[in-house]
Amino acid sequence: MIRKYVFGEPFDTEAVVKEIETANGMPCFGTISTENGFAFTYKMSEDDIVYGLGEANRGLNKRGYCYISNCSDDPHHTEEKRSLYAAHNFLVVSGKENFGLFFDYPTVITFDIGYTRSDVLKVSCDAADLNLYVIEGENAYDIVKQFRSIIGRSYIPPKFAFGFGQSRWGYKTKEDFWKVTEGYRSNQIPIDMIYMDIDYMEGYKDFTLNEENFQDFPEFVSDMKEQGIRLVPIIDAGVKVEEGYSVYEEGVRNNYFCKREDGSDFVAAVWPGDTHFPDVLNADARKWFGDHYRVLIDQGIEGFWNDMNEPAIFYSREGMEELKEKIRKIVQEDMEALPVWELGAAVEGVANNPKDYERFYHNVDGKKIRHDKVHNLFGYNMTRAAGEAFERIDPGRRFLMFSRSSYVGMHRYGGIWTGDNKSWWSHILLNLKMMPSLNMCGFLYTGADLGGFGANATRDLVLRWLALGVFTPLMRNHAAIGTREQECYQFENTDDFRGVIETRYRLVPYLYSEYVKAALNDDMYFKPLAFVYPEDEFAVRVEDQMMVGNEIMIAPVYTQNAKGRYVYLPERMKLVKFTKDNQYTEEVLEKGHHYVEIALNEVPLFIREGRCIPVAKAAQTVEKLDTENLELLGFDGAEYELYEDDGIHKDYENPENYKILKK
Ligand code: GLC
Repeated sequence: MIRKYVFGEPFDTEAVVKEIETANGMPCFGTISTENGFAFTYKMSEDDIVYGLGEANRGLNKRGYCYISNCSDDPHHTEEKRSLYAAHNFLVVSGKENFGLFFDYPTVITFDIGYTRSDVLKVSCDAADLNLYVIEGENAYDIVKQFRSIIGRSYIPPKFAFGFGQSRWGYKTKEDFWKVTEGYRSNQIPIDMIYMDIDYMEGYKDFTLNEENFQDFPEFVSDMKEQGIRLVPIIDAGVKVEEGYSVYEEGVRNNYFCKREDGSDFVAAVWPGDTHFPDVLNADARKWFGDHYRVLIDQGIEGFWNDMNEPAIFYSREGMEELKEKIRKIVQEDMEALPVWELGAAVEGVANNPKDYERFYHNVDGKKIRHDKVHNLFGYNMTRAAGEAFERIDPGRRFLMFSRSSYVGMHRYGGIWTGDNKSWWSHILLNLKMMPSLNMCGFLYTGADLGGFGANATRDLVLRWLALGVFTPLMRNHAAIGTREQECYQFENTDDFRGVIETRYRLVPYLYSEYVKAALNDDMYFKPLAFVYPEDEFAVRVEDQMMVGNEIMIAPVYTQNAKGRYVYLPERMKLVKFTKDNQYTEEVLEKGHHYVEIALNEVPLFIREGRCIPVAKAAQTVEKLDTENLELLGFDGAEYELYEDDGIHKDYENPENYKILKK
């Protein structure tokens, strides 16, 4: 059962697509105050678990910390951080009482989940203008499915997007892309996508190509496709300010950019230098910006990643002036007692400065709305601009699309990647724990930068991270410029990398089938063990193992030098370890605690009692997989319902796409 409570004058975020009657005045589990802003308070019982918040820091059980939905470009995902790139304001309290809460509020909102007081859940924000949805259900899983049913169907990418992708900030020329292609193909490591980071553009201008490096781009795209590789370019939020650049000129002419109070176009410095932000909250501007994706689609491009859309601001003119003034003051006042840290903080604070978000406005249906009041909706609407444009450009076709910043509702238009992580072992675990939370909020097509974006990767870390990435719908190795090269062929014994990535391809029939079924049924692809074994006291607290689809459990290794790990089996399962050359070993393990040895070049998974999964022979691309001759692994007598389609169109309801396989 879902109840909607309306406070003040909420901004219509369009996160929820189903009409729900207002239930103001009815009980809502907690206490609500609208006196100083808005606050929802609930007294938690000792054993209550709190799930949700999608892309947020820390564990699967969110209890014990304070999180703030405030879309932020922060590449240091250390444990104390409260905000990452997204705002997914959905929580589930599971324990003495079971209920879900969705705070549909477009800007900064705080979730104090047993931080100030260990037994108090308090959700608060500055303005008492929001819609609150309260979901009553039998258990956490049931509540998630109800929530999913009101926010609309999750995005389904084309099937090639289930292949492996390589990315690195710094690939500049065709030769760079050919080198990557050669690195993979000559080592027979499967790959379907190479990502084009900002250097493909002319001066970081959206929808342009560096003419010198990418002459005959359509031919290049098609040559790559002949190698079985799709190029996936990045699109940034800010449009470069430059006379003669048509996107800039059209935007200025039609008032499609966010404006200052005085009506001038707001200037924010990002990669290209000065930029204007397209007003993606304005329907006309959104359509205009989205239509530009066609420029690349017409040249053969089938996928994109949207970046810097919190939106990230390196500095504004106003901010820079203030900084100069501050520095002048500090330096002039007292050189002796120069507070170095204050100076450092002032300089650092010029980027993504909250004050800048108060300096520009959106035009929503003729109403001028200051950006900070709707801050968390920008990335969502940039990606929506693209998603809506794809519908106009080629309505029957699926495009690959994922974004850095997001809000609930964006899950209908694209996926997300989890931003600038680091080559740290702890970030493998963070990646793992985040996945089910993202699924709760509708984001199914997700993944982290495998191998880590910042810092230098090591061979063992990349292998272990890829072994988790085998199961994340988005499987992409990406790294920052200046870091150690971490493409799979950069390390010794590339065979090991081939084995791990081949395992992904062997599992694509299963992973794709489970993904599409999850999307069509408002279900989860990654589930916490607690959702499947709610009565099992051990399973309920496990955070480093996950259910993937309905048939298997995974338990990735995330510690340096480990030879294996402890795994808890909530029921009897068959352990399958995949190695290279289409090999695997099998062993049935009884319910309980086990130590499982897992070599660096092995990918383990656990098939549930009485279940089976389809497995293909490895191939160099998704398209080349032989899905006619699948082997079934698991328990004899088991059946599996395979979903399969052409991977491009949206023919999901066709009964021919569903097949029962028997082992
Ligand atoms: C941002 C993105 C990262 C990208 C870089 C350069 O940091 O998060 O993925 O490589 O910008 O475009």
